[in-house]
Amino acid sequence: MLYQVAESPVLSLFSLKGQVSLVTGGSRGIGLAAAIGLAEAGSDVAITYNSSSDEHMKEIIAKFESLGIKFKAYKCNVVNKKDITECVEQVVKDFGRLDVVVPNAGIAVHEPAEDFTEDDYRKTMSVNLDGAYYTAQAAANAFKKQKQQGTLIQGKIVFTASVSSAIVNFPQKQAPYNASKAGLVRLCKCLAVEWVDFARVNAISPGFIATDMLDVHPKENRDFWMSVIPGKRHCQTHELKGAYVFLASDASSYVVGEELIIGGGYSLI
Ligand SMILES: NC(=O)c1ccc[n+]([C@@H]2O[C@H](COP(=O)([O-])OP(=O)(O)OC[C@H]3O[C@@H](n4cnc5c(N)ncnc54)[C@H](OP(=O)(O)O)[C@@H]3O)[C@@H](O)[C@H]2O)c1
Ligand SMILES: *[C@@H]1O[C@H](CO)[C@@H](O)[C@H](O)[C@H]1NC(C)=O
Ligand SMILES: *[C@@H]1O[C@H](CO)[C@@H](O)[C@H](O)[C@H]1NC(C)=O
Repeated sequence: MLYQVAESPVLSLFSLKGQVSLVTGGSRGIGLAAAIGLAEAGSDVAITYNSSSDEHMKEIIAKFESLGIKFKAYKCNVVNKKDITECVEQVVKDFGRLDVVVPNAGIAVHEPAEDFTEDDYRKTMSVNLDGAYYTAQAAANAFKKQKQQGTLIQGKIVFTASVSSAIVNFPQKQAPYNASKAGLVRLCKCLAVEWVDFARVNAISPGFIATDMLDVHPKENRDFWMSVIPGKRHCQTHELKGAYVFLASDASSYVVGEELIIGGGYSLI
């Protein structure tokens, strides 16, 4: 049965004090913003990164230490099921528990669909879809184990999908990316039902967010997007953190298997 929270003042429902959250791809962009939001809500935080430099990671560690929570970063490639499974188990060992997992690591490759190489296709699917699934699987097993031990009632999983799951972006070409995100949203909905007794699973689908992922596009594309975003601007990563905290917390206790689209109106026209 879905866990029912007791009635309490609304801001207290957003608190993540005493909880532990893990964000994959938390070293930059959207994952970093989500991790900061969870920390500001009181959660201890673990992140994974893949290729960030030691120098960059030092800055990230200092940033989280200044938030006054326990923090640890793990180098882990999510495409490798053994690595991410061991990483999740290590987080439970290091922090003593795990409550919230955000499978967020993702990549985008832009090539005309008819020219996409097998290697780029596999890479897109293996990070965005396989990696997110392996992360969620390891999280589910950690949640179940804690539930059996009586130390957790319900875990939370918040995937980072994309508006690309539902619409055809234009003029950039990224069909396999969009397919990976559509698959991720379907996966989210199926897992949400299958795991409802021990985990609440949802997804956030950002629109155009100002990160390294968007910087690679030519100016013409970016000008064109402005003309189709009703809000007439990109989203800053910090504008997403409230949504991650909402779906990770008791404030969303009856939200199950939803895709929360954050696109400045982009998907509406
Ligand atoms: N930006 C947008 O407009 C937008 C819109 C919709 C959805 N999204 C989605 O949001 C998520 C984050 O995107 P972003 O824009 O924040 O991207 P980003 O700035 O490029 O950051 C990507 C993050 O993923 C990590 N990562 C990449 N490959 C990995 C791997 N194999 N294993 C583990 N970690 C890996 C990176 O770690 P290192 O830096 O250490 O390599 C980095 O922390 C992605 O799933 C993306 O598809 C983005
Ligand atoms: C992740 O790291 C591996 C090995 O360190 C590297 O081969 C791969 O290109 C990296 N992936 C990304 C998306 O940076
Ligand atoms: C994929 O989705 C993006 C939106 O993120 C969109 O700009 C692009 O046109 C889509 N591409 C295809 C081929 O579906």
